[in-house]
Amino acid sequence: MQISHCKEALSDVWGRFNNSIIVRGEGSYIFDDQGNQFLDFTSGIGVTATGHCHPQIVGAVKAQASQLLFGQMNCMLPEVTLRYATALRAKTPSSIETFFFSNSGAEAVEGAIKLARMATGRPNVIAFEGGFHGRTAMTMALTSSKKVYREGFQPLPAGVFFSPFPNSFYYGWSREETVRFCLAQLERLLQTQSSADETAAFIIEPVLGEGGFVPAPAEFLLGLREICDRTGVLLIVDEIQSGFGRSGEMWAHEHCGISPDILTMAKGIASGLPMSAIGASHELMSRWVPGAHGGTYGGGSAISMAAALATLEVIEDEQLIENARVIGSKLKQHLEAIVPKYSGTADVRGHGLMVGVELISDGKPDKQTAIRIQADCLKSKLLLLICGTGGNVLRWLPPLNVSEQEIDIACKIFESAIEGRVG
Ligand SMILES: Cc1ncc(COP(=O)(O)O)c(C=O)c1O
Repeated sequence: MQISHCKEALSDVWGRFNNSIIVRGEGSYIFDDQGNQFLDFTSGIGVTATGHCHPQIVGAVKAQASQLLFGQMNCMLPEVTLRYATALRAKTPSSIETFFFSNSGAEAVEGAIKLARMATGRPNVIAFEGGFHGRTAMTMALTSSKKVYREGFQPLPAGVFFSPFPNSFYYGWSREETVRFCLAQLERLLQTQSSADETAAFIIEPVLGEGGFVPAPAEFLLGLREICDRTGVLLIVDEIQSGFGRSGEMWAHEHCGISPDILTMAKGIASGLPMSAIGASHELMSRWVPGAHGGTYGGGSAISMAAALATLEVIEDEQLIENARVIGSKLKQHLEAIVPKYSGTADVRGHGLMVGVELISDGKPDKQTAIRIQADCLKSKLLLLICGTGGNVLRWLPPLNVSEQEIDIACKIFESAIEGRVG
């Protein structure tokens, strides 16, 4: 049987913009079964942050595989997990001292909400409009980036309230006006729907990911921190997409000078192996009684731990955070020079190598052009994702070790696509 016929054995639930059959990846490139080479600027939605098959990650995985594949956390203490937790501790803000490991981003968010509820004894959670936190029941309830993530599954778990995210491009206001409005709406929500005494946590992405690559202004996150300090509501910062150097800082919230009470991490954490983490202070974690959270694979696999440890080393050795900052700012400059060729209005934004280009035509999200540009880029062998509530934001997520030359190649392809020159 031809391998392409085997697609029938896959569920249709995966939305997919590229059906090429990929047999190999190396650095910023993937290779299909027909011998084609693609520049992968999706990084598996931000997962393969050190590029495909980085030799140091592959080496660490191979070495760990011959030592211990899996060490169940209720039954033993795998050495590699202890080493990783200590290494991660050195990279997190001082408010984050201790970790629970799991396998996916949604699992980490689910656990973070359980921790916040048990630690505070309060039932509710406030999330922000346009946020994406996962696809399990509770994380769907926290997600409002697009209706497709909720439609057909409601009613979802209760106790979730939404407040506006400070997206000044969406509101068409200045940054100051937007922040003032959003903080006032949040205070109003606390006065009208879920009082601080009933609110366990706020959960926010420091840069909206799926919702359109919108960085939260520092003043807003500082405002959230102030409310949390005053009321005892916990601040959960979801860095599942923006963490591990993606934003040009180790954590995107560092752009704003705040400290989270709970930090959720995944994606770039282990360069492609399934893994996620929840971080909090010792004091907070100790309010989570033993057995209240866990799971057979809660703790992740030893192989993922080894990959995560090697990922931290690669980030450090190859100065990938600096690269994300420097190359990311060049990428933004390129894009700013290209977007005037689009007939509508385009907003280029983001931190580091998490850059979005939002397209607006006649005052409305221009989804059709975004889809056409994505398809034209694919014809020219460049993979780019789309995000945003209106499906009109082209999102740039190259690996953190992408070269300037690869950025130049991608931008030339993007320019041709914007100009409609791809045949
Ligand atoms: C900010 C954020 N939180 C949570 C998730 C859910 O992670 P996962 O898809 O690994 O469950 C994602 C995934 O895109 C994300 O971007």
